[in-house]
Formats: sequence, C-alpha cells, structure tokens
Amino acid sequence: MPWSPDEPYNELPPLPPGVDFETKAVLRQAIRARAALAALDQAAKRMQNPMVLVHSLSLLEAQASSEIENIVTTTDDLFRYAYDPSDSASAETKETLRYRAALFSGLEAIRSRPLSVSTAVEVCTNIHRREMGVRQLPGTFIGDPQTGKAVYTPPTGEALIRDKLDNWADFIHSAGEIDPLIVMAIAHYQLEAIHPFEDGNGRTGRIINVLQLVEAGLLSAPILYLSRFIIRNKDEYYRLLLAVTRDGAWEEWISFVLRGLYETATTTLRKIDRIHELQEAMRAEIKRHTTAGSNSDLLDVLLENPYARIGSVMERCAVSRPTATAWLNALVDNGTLADLKIGRDRLFINTSFMRILTRDDPPEAPAEQTQF
Ligand SMILES: Nc1ncnc2c1ncn2[C@@H]1O[C@H](COP(=O)(O)OP(=O)(O)O)[C@@H](O)[C@H]1O
Ligand SMILES: [Mg+2]
Repeated sequence: MPWSPDEPYNELPPLPPGVDFETKAVLRQAIRARAALAALDQAAKRMQNPMVLVHSLSLLEAQASSEIENIVTTTDDLFRYAYDPSDSASAETKETLRYRAALFSGLEAIRSRPLSVSTAVEVCTNIHRREMGVRQLPGTFIGDPQTGKAVYTPPTGEALIRDKLDNWADFIHSAGEIDPLIVMAIAHYQLEAIHPFEDGNGRTGRIINVLQLVEAGLLSAPILYLSRFIIRNKDEYYRLLLAVTRDGAWEEWISFVLRGLYETATTTLRKIDRIHELQEAMRAEIKRHTTAGSNSDLLDVLLENPYARIGSVMERCAVSRPTATAWLNALVDNGTLADLKIGRDRLFINTSFMRILTRDDPPEAPAEQTQF
C-alpha cells in the first residue's frame, strides 16, 4: 500500500535505510561535524569548571526543545525556579524543568546500560512525570498547525510499534561502520516516524540524540544541543522529516542534521572561549570590589547559578548573610551583576554570562555571500 498522510504508516521500512545515504557530500559533512565536535569536547575538558556549561546549557536546551512543542517559558522564570523549585512556577516552567530532569536521568541510565527502547520509555515518562507506555490506541497523527489536517499518521498496534522500536535500538548499536553522527540522524527520523508515544515524541527524540553522542564517546559532557538550530530552521525540520517518508529523501535529512551539529558545535566552542574571558574578568572584579579575595567559590557560584540568591552565596562560600549581601551588592554597583526583585525573591543575575549563552551566533556566512 502506498504511503498516505492520513493512513497509519504500518509499512514504515526498518533500518538501515534501503538507499545509499553515505554519499560523498554526506561523508564530507560528517567529517567536518566530527572535527567540530572533537574540538568542542576537548575545549570542554580543559574548562576549569565544566559544570558551568552543563548546568546552563541543559536548561536552555530544555527551554528550546519544549518551545518547539509550544511549551513556552521565560529564561528568567526557568533559571529562577531551576535552583529553587516552587509550586508557584507556571505549568510550562515545571514541564520544562522536567525535561531537564529527564535528560539527566537518561544520562545516568546510559552509564550503567546501553541505550535501549526502555531508555526512551523512561525519558518520555520523566518528561510527563506519568507512565508513558507505547501507544495502544490508534488516533495519533501529526497535523498541519494551520489546517489541522493530517500530515503524517504513524504506525498503529502495540506489537508492531514494539517491533519497529526493537529494530531502531538494534540499528543504533549494530550500525558498525556507519559514522555515529549519521546513525544519530537516521535514528532520530525513525523514532519520530514510529512516534511510539501519545505525546513527547519530539522531546524524547531530542534527548536521545544527546544520549547517543555521549554513549558513542563523542561528548564527555552533555553540552551539544540541536534545539536552537531546529527553532531557527523549524520549517525545514518538519519538511525534511516528511520528505524521508514521502520521497525517501535520506540524504537531505542527514545533511540537515550534520549541518546542525557542525554549526552548533562551532558556536558552542565560541561560547567556551567567551566564558574563559568572562571568568578572568570576573575574577578581577571580585578581587577589586569584594573581600572574597581569590576564593574561587564566589566566582563558581555566580557562573554555575547565574540567577544566584544571597542564600546560594552563603552556602557555597560559608559566609554570613551580611557578608554575602555586601559582596553581591558591590558586584551590582560595579555592573557585574543585575539585581532582580520578584515579590520577596531577590536574584542576582550574571547578565554577561547569560548574554554569552543565549546569543544565537549566526552561522558563518558561506564564502559566496561574503560582501566586500
Ligand atoms: N512528518 C513527520 N514525520 C515524523 N515526525 C515528525 C513529522 N513532523 C514532525 N515530527 C516530529 O514530531 C514531533 C512532535 O511530536 P510530539 O509527540 O507532539 O512531541 P512533543 O510532545 O515533544 O511535542 C516534532 O518535534 C518532530 O520531531
Ligand atoms: Mg506534543
């Protein structure tokens, strides 16, 4: 039966793809992305405090990946509640924080056993904080946001879905000679096309991407996330996923993902350089304007928790409330931190750091577009 947008696609072919996807162009892009990723991983390993990056980038990834699914929260709310969860956080903020928790529990899980179908089930369950088994009922489809009409209807039947998931997990581990970045791209399409859950497939798939990179040994810490790239290229993301189904357009899809990996690795590496510079500048400011001297705990807490509270400084630096307050006020006065009061909450925002993290560096312009 030919594929049709509103019929369950029970004939979704198993992996590996039946076409030659390792074209010269794809292999070239894979090499470029691998080099960028290796440089990023090296730079992260050399960081004085790699947790600085892990904490904040994972939160921003949670925000971006959730935003793709129309779960929107502000950076202020997200960082404010990340270190002090509270019932007053909005439903969207809570759901976004669950995404990050799901990411970390996934990372924890693959330390002790290989990524598998149950990893995906666990990740999806943690995102929703309720048991998310494989879909048992028909009726799930991907609709056009404008018209509501079905664009793609995933396979139905629990046993069939499970078979396809087993094939997906086998492919990830038995792909042999295929470059792990290409494996990741292929596996991401396949998981989305199987669409095993009633909801959360996109977010689960994007978490699995990172888990694969870590499992393959390409990243020692979770610091490379594609969701910002996907937001910038959202129409293309949807169009190319569909084009694999409709036209077998694997090369275009893989090439899109490899471009995303390359661009993101390159911009994240640049962020690390800027963070190094900021760290040195802040160290000098702390020395000049506070009595914390060369104690690096204050610097660390302001970078690990860029929305710090007085209590966070007291705890981390083991100082009294008046001392912590005096240090933070001095850094507000000299412009290093911004003071944000929300109700009874007083936060000290490391604005330069947040700017480095959130600035979406435009990808380097291709040579032919360079203007003289
Ligand atoms: N044509 C398509 N074929 C397969 N997957 C698609 C297609 N279009 C979009 N998707 C995937 O479906 C995801 C949305 O599925 P959904 O279960 O609602 O995930 P979430 O709850 O995380 O939003 C998108 O993020 C994308 O990854
Ligand atoms: Mg959804």
